[in-house]
Amino acid sequence: MKSLETETAFEVLAKAKALEKQGKEIVHLEIGEPDFDTPQNVKDAAARAMSAGYTHYTPSAGMLELKEAIAEHVSETRRLDVKPEEVVVTPGAKPVMFFGVLALVNPGEEVLYPNPGFPVYESVIKFVGAKPVPIPLREENGFSLDPEYVKEKITAKTKMIILNSPENPTGGVATREQLGVIADCLARRDDVFVLSDEIYSRIIYEGGHESITQFDGMKDKTILLDGFSKTYAMTGWRLGYGVMRKDLAAKFAQLMTNSNSCTNTFVQLAGVEALKGSQRDVENMVAEFRRRREVIVDGLNDIEGFRCMKPRGAFYAFPNITGTGMNSRELGERLLHKAGVAVLPGASFGEFGEGYLRLSFANSVENIRKALERIENSLGEC
Ligand SMILES: Cc1ncc(COP(=O)(O)O)c(C=O)c1O
Repeated sequence: MKSLETETAFEVLAKAKALEKQGKEIVHLEIGEPDFDTPQNVKDAAARAMSAGYTHYTPSAGMLELKEAIAEHVSETRRLDVKPEEVVVTPGAKPVMFFGVLALVNPGEEVLYPNPGFPVYESVIKFVGAKPVPIPLREENGFSLDPEYVKEKITAKTKMIILNSPENPTGGVATREQLGVIADCLARRDDVFVLSDEIYSRIIYEGGHESITQFDGMKDKTILLDGFSKTYAMTGWRLGYGVMRKDLAAKFAQLMTNSNSCTNTFVQLAGVEALKGSQRDVENMVAEFRRRREVIVDGLNDIEGFRCMKPRGAFYAFPNITGTGMNSRELGERLLHKAGVAVLPGASFGEFGEGYLRLSFANSVENIRKALERIENSLGEC
């Protein structure tokens, strides 16, 4: 258990809530969840399902109706042929990460993962006794993946490569060319799997979403992770899924049986409505994020000591703060206590995240402006 780490977002949220209890007013830019409400048609579908008696167990891998809807959605968006038996429904998308590493990676094997990146990757790799091999994402490359670096780091011991595009925390987006180089490298390595975290695939501002599953032979070597938390503002519902080859899906189902039994039944039916119903709320939400992106990036670039690139996807700004003379944890603490703005230190996303902060712009323009003003004023007090 000592090797298991945590997500700082939940720790900072707890600290910010404690300050609020003492009467302080905090602007929350730390947690990664849309501030929008879940679309009404999705909520109505859940209520209808609950009233109709969908309140019992389902098969561990999920209800056929939802697996069919997911297979259809993924086939369409990734231009693939996905069958329902290649889908496993999970309570949130996180279990797909955990199960993927647990099912495939042995102690002593190596897993490549993006750094700065979602902290759960490194935590789970270490938890199974494997060696985390960071793929540094650098500001000078627009925080996008350097496939040549990945190529160099693949060894005989490599068992898995974790990809995340659009990326948390940097907003970097992988291009088709970059993914193509990685797919080529893996052409002769049937023992290496990819975990492709595509949870932000619909929240993208420039270009389109590309998936490594589209390259020859890659679908069978990839666990595609996606879900409803971000796209449909459903973080609290806990609904996600993995798409993978059939034999591995059967093993995932077994992991589900041994851990959760199944995903919440009426939530699964709400998921069918989310995928098949109107997508207008999703489009409006992304349009609003796009507007906020301009406000936050421009505002951060106006603050002395900050330098911020425009994220191409997801809803996080990841400014370079080395010009402030403080490290990311010091500055994060200072902003929370002095400015009443909760943000995450880049260092909590791995060693290559030092020198940066993550600010979620899943908050109103009004609150973003308030946060920017407070940050600027508090730095002036140094
Ligand atoms: C990159 C990434 N993957 C997966 C998840 C987990 O999603 P869920 O809440 O559906 O478990 C998150 C949530 O923050 C994320 O940022």
